[in-house]
Amino acid sequence: MEPIAATNPEETIAREEQFQLTTYKKMPIVAERGEGVWVLASNGDRYLDLYGGHAVAGTGHCHPHVVKAIREQTEKLLFYSNLVYSEARARAAEKLVSVAPALLTKAFFCNSGTEANENAMRMARMATGRENIVTFSGGFHGRTADAISATFLGRYREIGKPNVPGHREADFGDIDSVRAVADESVAAIMLEPIQSMAGVRGAAPSFYRALRELCDERGIVLIYDEVQTGVGRTGDWFFAGSDASDGVVPDIVTLAKALGSGVPVGACLVTERIASHIKENDLGTTFGGGMIAMAAVTATLEAIESDQMIENVLTVEAYLRERLKEVEQVVNVRGRGFLLGLEFADKAKPVHEALLKHKIITGTSSDPKVLRLLPPLCLKREEVDLFVETLVQVVSKV
Ligand SMILES: Cc1ncc(COP(=O)(O)O)c(C=O)c1O
Repeated sequence: MEPIAATNPEETIAREEQFQLTTYKKMPIVAERGEGVWVLASNGDRYLDLYGGHAVAGTGHCHPHVVKAIREQTEKLLFYSNLVYSEARARAAEKLVSVAPALLTKAFFCNSGTEANENAMRMARMATGRENIVTFSGGFHGRTADAISATFLGRYREIGKPNVPGHREADFGDIDSVRAVADESVAAIMLEPIQSMAGVRGAAPSFYRALRELCDERGIVLIYDEVQTGVGRTGDWFFAGSDASDGVVPDIVTLAKALGSGVPVGACLVTERIASHIKENDLGTTFGGGMIAMAAVTATLEAIESDQMIENVLTVEAYLRERLKEVEQVVNVRGRGFLLGLEFADKAKPVHEALLKHKIITGTSSDPKVLRLLPPLCLKREEVDLFVETLVQVVSKV
């Protein structure tokens, strides 16, 4: 990546602060370019990005195959809605279904994770004729009305008041607590199979199996919110159907984030049984299935395949776990693949801040002791070495 002529970062920061609503606590970086796992700031600083812009840069920043596909599509047609057919849409849907577990045969495209979850819950209500939804303490599902009402984490439900009625909470990993609230009035049980924002919390494979059995027994739709875990992040194409899930495939999987490598896109993947309940005009969104997003989806999936990124996730994860044994302050490493939570004996925020000073971007979580890593799937051993060596340095000082 070529160094770039410095624009005035302070001025950019001041203008953004003045004209944009303050909704996020920002890092003091004016991001200008990206390449693979690296982000170049407008002052010339180069950052190792182990956060991937909120888990979005799965294929890395500006993967050439994805950039080319988007560029070529922009020269043909920027957009037409679902009222017409499109080669770009047909290819994306076919490709996505081809990498999904065999039972998930149809895709619905939308624009974000929260929208995918809204539509998943709506489909479950349509398929069952029931209204209630069970989700889990610690799960995050988005910020629109129904999704935020399904989010039992921190103060999110408060922000979303008045909440949509009919949402019930169960304890993640505890099947008895699910049994207690998931009666025959419940349309869906929805979960993040690994709870990311809560501090990268997983459950035993037997929990997912027990959920599947409970749903089958009581006629409930099982939804995996794979907005973070999907598209290769956990070392499988999807958590659904993986060994970690004990092979369990839910009735609906929701996706977003890494699916378009940065072009906004969300999706629901559904079984034939769910699809049979959905009629024309039951779901829709103007921009869903737009050509640029569809070109990005196909190219993203192709890039993951051709660069063998899923295999890379598995080998580099193993290497990272091994090297982290050298850092005695890391008392546990949670998660799978490149959705990892490094648990410290003490607060993780000072570590995050110190790493940032050393030009390494990581994430925090709602668990104060957990530092989150959500790097691009193309992260290599050399970059792991750089991270671990820097981590050793900073933890000795914080
Ligand atoms: C698991 C999960 N579900 C849903 C969402 C919401 O996605 P979006 O911000 O694209 O609406 C997020 C966002 O962080 C998420 O992590």
